[in-house]
Amino acid sequence: MELSEAINGRHSVRDYTTEPVDEETIRRLIADAIQAPSAIDEQPWTFTVIRDQVLLDRASREAKEHMRAVSPAGAQPSHFKSMLDDADFHIFYHAPVLVLISAATEGAWVVADCALAAQNLMLAGYAAGLGSCWIGFAQNYLNTPEGKAAFGLPIAWIPVAPIILGHPKSTTAPVPRRAPVIHWLG
Ligand SMILES: Cc1cc2nc3c(=O)[nH]c(=O)nc-3n(C[C@H](O)[C@H](O)[C@H](O)COP(=O)(O)O)c2cc1C
Repeated sequence: MELSEAINGRHSVRDYTTEPVDEETIRRLIADAIQAPSAIDEQPWTFTVIRDQVLLDRASREAKEHMRAVSPAGAQPSHFKSMLDDADFHIFYHAPVLVLISAATEGAWVVADCALAAQNLMLAGYAAGLGSCWIGFAQNYLNTPEGKAAFGLPIAWIPVAPIILGHPKSTTAPVPRRAPVIHWLG
């Protein structure tokens, strides 16, 4: 697949079939993810692969509870609040797999490094016929001791990019982009 086709064709997918994503495919996507650049070649990324749906259900519930508990009233857009209050809203959209990219070390650029790996993972996933979505809703929770314990992460790791993957159930309409602000100097 042409790179431009993947860049322009990838959209966040929130509706998946129950078809599992096999281990070999996940390993291939991770191999693509780690081709991302990293500051001073630190390669701080780690990949936690969660296919246990009971664990993802629990993490979804706890992440919603955590966000409700820590967000001051009125701090979030109202549609966020109604999503968090909706018992049927699953923050991982029942996707068959979550790949959590975390930094194993602290450092000025580790978040950028992991985010670049995440973009590679999502584009490679698209090229492999898979949908993906970054689940920011999970991040606050995953950065708590309870969230790290739920996924067996060492306490020093820094969860950055929770990426769900799966086979899309339907096609996703593109989200239109605003015209970019381009500041030309010279
Ligand atoms: C850092 C980050 C956090 C996000 N968190 C969520 C999320 O929690 N739930 C969700 O459904 N989509 C989430 N998204 C997906 C965005 O909503 C999506 O990228 C945006 O609407 C543009 O759509 P597109 O990815 O289809 O181009 C997140 C994306 C990023 C980059």
